[in-house]
Amino acid sequence: MATNFLAIKDFSADSLNYLLNRGLELKRMQKSGIRYRPFEGKMLALIFEKASTRTRVSFEAGFAQMGGSTIFLNNHDSQLKNKESIEDTARTLSRMVDIVMLRTPEHSRLEAFANNSTIPVLNGLTNENHPCQIMGDIMTYMEHRGNIKGITLAWIGDANNVLYSWLQAADILDFKVNIYAPVGFTINPRQVPQKQCYQFFLTPEEAATGADLVTTDNWKSTGYNEKQEKRRSVSARWQVNTAVMKAANPDAVFMHCLPAYRGEEVSSEVIDGPQSLVWDEAENRLHIQKAIMEYLLLGKVKQ
Ligand code: CP
Ligand code: NVA
Repeated sequence: MATNFLAIKDFSADSLNYLLNRGLELKRMQKSGIRYRPFEGKMLALIFEKASTRTRVSFEAGFAQMGGSTIFLNNHDSQLKNKESIEDTARTLSRMVDIVMLRTPEHSRLEAFANNSTIPVLNGLTNENHPCQIMGDIMTYMEHRGNIKGITLAWIGDANNVLYSWLQAADILDFKVNIYAPVGFTINPRQVPQKQCYQFFLTPEEAATGADLVTTDNWKSTGYNEKQEKRRSVSARWQVNTAVMKAANPDAVFMHCLPAYRGEEVSSEVIDGPQSLVWDEAENRLHIQKAIMEYLLLGKVKQ
C-alpha cells in the first residue's frame, strides 16, 4: 500500500513539522530562483468532483515547477460521469501515473480510492477534511508569527471540513481552538479528537477574545446538503468584522481559505486590512503541496 496524505490525524507531530519546514524551504528555494526538478518523468493525475480554483492551480503549477506533468479529470467528462466505480478508477490510474490528487464529496469515497490504489493519493478536499489547506495555513502562521504551538485560534463559522482539519492539527501540534458555531451547525463529536483542544463560545466576539489567529469560511460550504441548507436561517450566519478582530489580540492575524464573499462571512475592512494574510495563505498551498508530494514520492529528503 502506498503512503497517502488523506487527513492530518494520520501524521505525527514530527512528520507534520518536517513537512511545514520543508514547505518553507521549498518556498525560499523558488524565490531564490533555484531550479529543483525531482519529478522529471513523473505524472500527477488530478480528479475534481467539485469545483476549484486554488487547489487545481497550485497542484498543476507546483508539480510542473518540480519537473513533472499533470492530467486533469472531472466527473463531467470522464467515465465517472457514467458511474464507473471509484475503485476501478483507482486501479486504472495506478497503472498509468505516479501520484493522484482527489477532490470528492465523501471522505469514505477518498478512502475507497486510496484502498484500491498502488500509488500515493492526496486529499484535495472532502466534506470532512481539507488537510492541504490547513498545512498551508499553519505554514503561513509560522512565516508571520513563528511556532503555532500554544496559540489560540478562533473559528467563526459552521463546523465543516476546514474546521475538522484545524481540530486534528490542534490535537497533534498542541494549540487551542475557540469555536463560535451557529446553533444547529456545530461539530459532530464523532469527527473530532478526544483531547479537549477546543472550547465553544456563544458569540464571535467571545470566541475571538485573546485569539492569535481568527479564521472563518463561507456561509454555504459545499459539504452541506440541500436539506441542511434549507434549515439555515439568518441566525445561522456570521461575520468576522472589525468588532470581532478588536476582541482578538492586537497582533492577531486573519485567515480565510477562500473563496471569500465580502459582506457575508467577512467584511471588506478585515479581509483587505493589515491583519489579513489571505494572499500568502493562498500562495502557500503551492509550496506546502510540493513538500507533501515530495515526501510521498521520494520520502524525507532532509533529516
Ligand atoms: N481553498 C481552496 O481549496 O480553494 P479552491 O476551492 O478554489 O480550490
Ligand atoms: N468549506 C469549504 C471550503 C472551500 C475551499 C467547502 O467545502 O466548500
